[in-house]
Amino acid sequence: MSRGGSGLRTRVKTARGRTAQSTRWLERQLNDPYVKRAKAEGYRSRAAYKLTELDERFGFLKGSKRVVDLGIAPGGWSQVVRRLVPKAAVAGIDLLPVDPLDGVAILQMDFMDDAAPGRLIEALGGAPDLVLSDMAANTVGHPQTDALRTMALVETALAFAVDVLAPGGAFVAKVFAGGADSALVAEMKRNFATVKHAKPPASRKASSEWYVVAQGFKGRAEAE
Ligand SMILES: C[S@@+](CC[C@H](N)C(=O)[O-])C[C@H]1O[C@@H](n2cnc3c(N)ncnc32)[C@H](O)[C@@H]1O
Repeated sequence: MSRGGSGLRTRVKTARGRTAQSTRWLERQLNDPYVKRAKAEGYRSRAAYKLTELDERFGFLKGSKRVVDLGIAPGGWSQVVRRLVPKAAVAGIDLLPVDPLDGVAILQMDFMDDAAPGRLIEALGGAPDLVLSDMAANTVGHPQTDALRTMALVETALAFAVDVLAPGGAFVAKVFAGGADSALVAEMKRNFATVKHAKPPASRKASSEWYVVAQGFKGRAEAE
């Protein structure tokens, strides 16, 4: 590793065995102000700031009592929830293992497994008033395929939210710019008082990731 001419930017030498792509990733990580901030503030991921910024704009965390975190690993979003609403019960799920987090029930399993919704509600101890999903499918490098696979996760997350949310609750999920299709938005509008799309500043400009924030869950009977 060497310092660049300005002395500010960390440059990474391409080492044998490291691909140009991973060198670029490492360089970006080392120079990313959100990565530095996450380290300084004890967050496990820079993604923590995406949730923080979304909450600053939409205010869905305040007053939450039970929160589900879909795609919890490594745990940045749940850390934000614990810091901002310490009394809320939190349950998260991920394919990957997650180091224990105080006050958070963590399931290591596939959210697409039929047993997942029941296990989450059991761990939470009741109906959530906030369902968060930062799930993203492992990318295969083909943008349309990646967007479709993540969309399937969002659709399943929305179906879960509509099934389990307490009236007045909220749903926040990662979507892709090309993927937030009109059928999905229509389904959200049918079930929630407001549906907004947002790209928080912490979301990299180069990434096609966006978030959808649906608030004011109408309750099953009312939406039908
Ligand atoms: C961008 S990361 C989440 C980062 C997290 N919000 C944070 O702040 O630390 C997306 C996560 O979704 C998880 N994921 C993807 N598909 C999943 C599935 N079917 N079931 C459970 N988790 C899944 C991935 O394993 C990955 O850890």
